[in-house]
Amino acid sequence: MASTVAFSFHDLGPDRGSFLEDVLAGLASERKVLQPKYFYDEAGCALFEAICELPEYYPTRTETAMMREFGAEIARELGAGCALIEYGSGSGRKTRILIDVLAPVAYLPIDIAAAQLRAAAAAMAGAYPGLAVCAVCADYCRPLVLPEMNGVNAARRVVYFPGSTIGNLTPDEAGAFLENARVVAGAGGAMLVGVDLKKDPARLVAAYDDAQGVTARFNLNLLARINRELGADFDLAGFRHEARYDAAHGRIEMHLVAGRDQRVSIAGREFDFRAGETIHTENSYKYSVAEFQALARAAGFAPARCWTDAGELFAVHLLHVPG
Ligand code: AVI
Repeated sequence: MASTVAFSFHDLGPDRGSFLEDVLAGLASERKVLQPKYFYDEAGCALFEAICELPEYYPTRTETAMMREFGAEIARELGAGCALIEYGSGSGRKTRILIDVLAPVAYLPIDIAAAQLRAAAAAMAGAYPGLAVCAVCADYCRPLVLPEMNGVNAARRVVYFPGSTIGNLTPDEAGAFLENARVVAGAGGAMLVGVDLKKDPARLVAAYDDAQGVTARFNLNLLARINRELGADFDLAGFRHEARYDAAHGRIEMHLVAGRDQRVSIAGREFDFRAGETIHTENSYKYSVAEFQALARAAGFAPARCWTDAGELFAVHLLHVPG
């Protein structure tokens, strides 16, 4: 009989891309763009934590409260003895609330950031003795084959993706991502995913352009990071943060707007900015329940349940993989 191991770490050697190449390509394109994945250096992670505490930024606290309110019901739907596969490092409150009620036999956090993943997974193993914690360093946006779960046999696999991070992908990317997640969950498996709902644009813009200016600092930190790591000479005072709602696409867009004509040099390359020109740094798509269920169906899932809060701000979707 195989014995179980409480903690294991598997590095699948994900391709992390090149920060420099991505920045040069993004700023050379006709409409300048930078990828939001580069927000999250140490300073960016700390700023994002601060965003989650802001009065205007409702998603984190709303989803956390929903997990408290509906956790027991969600656990009943998912059933006993599952392997919980979390996309992201999962040190957060929401994960612990779910683990407390679900009591999975194994927990597999998957993240591309190795050090963060190892620390978060080790903390989980310490907090839940008896739970087989199997950390997987991989890019969960790409097809993925999970390692053996430390000798544990699970009744089913459940992929958990909280935080509405799926909203940072385009709908096409989100569709491909869901297809990959369906394959990971496997026949008879399930996915639990947090999705921000469409709502009054003024409320959305306030959530991404808070009065204390924390989101502005988060956005501008991307330029500071390019200066720090790539030796660029962005003058941060020459750019301002802007959040706008694009109703046609159903998304919040974040931009950095040049306040004046300026030239920036990065690794020997020069980039000109006209006053008013923007760098598009992030999309955050918002979905009605029906829109997201249609996306999930197209990816091969059968939408089973959807919980929303009383204010209709946020949705937690339970999707089944047909057996
Ligand atoms: C990580 N992600 C779900 C956040 C969002 O709401 O799109 C990132 C964020 N950007 C600005 N504020 C928060």
